[in-house]
Amino acid sequence: MPRSLTQITDLTAAEVREILDLCGKMKRKEIAPKPLAGKAVACIFTKASLRTRVSFEVGIQQLGGNALYITDNEIKLGERESIADAARVLSRYVGMIMIRTYKQSDVEGLAKHASVPVVNGLTDAVHPCQILGDYFTILEHKPPERKYKVAYLGDGNNITHSWLNLASLIPLDLRIATAPDCRPDSLYVEKARRNPQSSVLLTDDPKEAVAGADVVYTDVWASMGQKHLAEEKANKLRSFQVNSSLLKGADPGAIVLHCLPAERGKEITDEVMDGPQSVVFDEAENRLHIQKAIMAFLLK
Ligand code: CP
Ligand code: NVA
Repeated sequence: MPRSLTQITDLTAAEVREILDLCGKMKRKEIAPKPLAGKAVACIFTKASLRTRVSFEVGIQQLGGNALYITDNEIKLGERESIADAARVLSRYVGMIMIRTYKQSDVEGLAKHASVPVVNGLTDAVHPCQILGDYFTILEHKPPERKYKVAYLGDGNNITHSWLNLASLIPLDLRIATAPDCRPDSLYVEKARRNPQSSVLLTDDPKEAVAGADVVYTDVWASMGQKHLAEEKANKLRSFQVNSSLLKGADPGAIVLHCLPAERGKEITDEVMDGPQSVVFDEAENRLHIQKAIMAFLLK
């Protein structure tokens, strides 16, 4: 079976480091491999995207390949035919599959039956490319590497789960502040807590999470597929907004990350997003570099 990235824990800690290292070399243009030369990549989207779509398409082109943008309107994954059959058919045409969808089990099903690597471009459960790119961004802005204190504020979602997955492999002091019924899935929390080198704090006090943090991270309160819950989530999460007053409690050299798209004025204020501590656009750029590294790694 080829290697796939359905979630960060498909990798070992050493492999995460190999990808981060490759990412740096590619970003600095020290190497420009073309592992996709002569190959196409099926990029399947059943949810909206700006960063993932464009960074994958550009990255695939830079690796010598050709990206095929496919929406669920055409293929109706799991409806017109089984996920397994779609995986077998696609594997006869393309060298890799990238998919953004709702169910994590659909991505795992594709990976199980495809004979080419499958990359998860976000599900309701996780967003591995994002958090690997985010960790690269932290390394760039806050060297040398140490056990970073990362405060995550807001909904316990796919982004939170991926931070927890990373903490299960890489030493992290993860401090998650959310409303009691917006907490991340305990499966991911337990997995992270099994890494004795990491610590995970779950709190409903945003100030406790942010105290002395190296990184302050937030994401939309209502993820794709949950927009009907937007008002309810906003009512629960209002006090977890990343604003200037909250940021004062972090380390003075703290950086602010947001996977984007942001709902300015809700989970993050304009002042913070456009302020000197924000590195959100470097973070967005790094999606391109990390995904190129992930694809090159999987095609080895
Ligand atoms: N951060 C991210 O994945 O952005 P898109 O939803 O625009 O792809
Ligand atoms: N949690 C967000 C992340 C978007 C990149 C969502 O799933 O909509």
